[in-house]
Amino acid sequence: PLAGPVLGLESSCDETAAAVLSPDGRVLGETLLSQTAEHARFGGVVPEVAARSHLRHMPALAAEALRQAGLRANDLGAVAATSGPGLIGGLIVGASFGKGLALANDLPFVAVNHLEAHALTPRLPGLLPEAPAFPYLLLLLSGGHCQCVAVEGLGRYRRLGTTLDDAVGEAFDKSAKLLGLPWPGGPHLERLAREGDPKRIPLPRPLLGREGCDFSFSGLKTAVSQAVGRLTDEAGKADIAASFQASVAAVMADRARHALRMMGTEIVGGKMSARATAEAAAAKGATRGATALVVSGGVAANSAIREALATVAAQHGLPLIAPPIRLCTDNAVMVAWAGIERLRAGLADSVEHAPRPRWPL
Ligand code: KG4
Ligand code: ZN
Repeated sequence: PLAGPVLGLESSCDETAAAVLSPDGRVLGETLLSQTAEHARFGGVVPEVAARSHLRHMPALAAEALRQAGLRANDLGAVAATSGPGLIGGLIVGASFGKGLALANDLPFVAVNHLEAHALTPRLPGLLPEAPAFPYLLLLLSGGHCQCVAVEGLGRYRRLGTTLDDAVGEAFDKSAKLLGLPWPGGPHLERLAREGDPKRIPLPRPLLGREGCDFSFSGLKTAVSQAVGRLTDEAGKADIAASFQASVAAVMADRARHALRMMGTEIVGGKMSARATAEAAAAKGATRGATALVVSGGVAANSAIREALATVAAQHGLPLIAPPIRLCTDNAVMVAWAGIERLRAGLADSVEHAPRPRWPL
């Protein structure tokens, strides 16, 4: 029952974004303002600064997305706004703005769970030759989230594991800071790691081989701190970066393997090529378990992690799907798309829906 395009709004962390999607998922307008520069001098996202910035910029960003689409608010079919989890100040700004627009134009309102929006991104029409079928495994790896989710259907998500302390992006950022790199440090650390020897300064691989697919990074961060303290030459920093990244990649691969097993996915070939294993899986008629391994979140940009996950996916005869980075990091296209999926399933929300800083899938 979708009467027109959907406006999606995102403001749960440090990106203010708006997007207009046609009912069949084509992007008609898209704007995004990253607050990274505003937070950089504080070395992290400051919630109060973020909320004020969302408030200052959201109206113009939404107006520009509508202008690109050649639409006015009353041409829309619905409004979808991220309503959690995230920083409450920003959530209130985006959700209130969205509800105001919906009320003023008599439109349905969808309160979107930010994690669900990440989870449904690979189903965005036109993104892939073929969208992955349910169930698939989602690894959500960002500055704020670090979890393995079995995406079993629309509204059916099973969190298989999560971090016991820091999110993986946080671990990258904190370790990068210890190495004297600017915030956010993930990309800088990856660059530095290229010049280093991952074997020279061994670092722990927390929870590797342990049952389940939880993560823990605080011990690794402490080990980085100690290794930095023992350094005698500046060049050693690159070795620490390389070792840190190798540890994280190894842990990721291990956790992904466990998560796939928890979903009942079989290993189809040890050392075969991705293509050979996929063919072997198809020959066995094996679609038991996950149909794909999807990685999303800012950390999905890391090539070492991608490579490690690609190997795991191939061992199971599965494709590794990483949406283009603009759709991996926080954006409003995924919010509008989640809104469309929910509306198609007849799931709108009341404007009484209160934003939730914590909102597990
Ligand atoms: O999804 P995202 O943009 O939003 C937040 O969660 O805020 O993720 C940002 C995180 C940061 O921690 C950043 O350092 C990390 O993703 N990141 C990376 C890389 N690019 C971004 N970490 C490792 N390697 C990268 N190439
Ligand atoms: Zn996110």
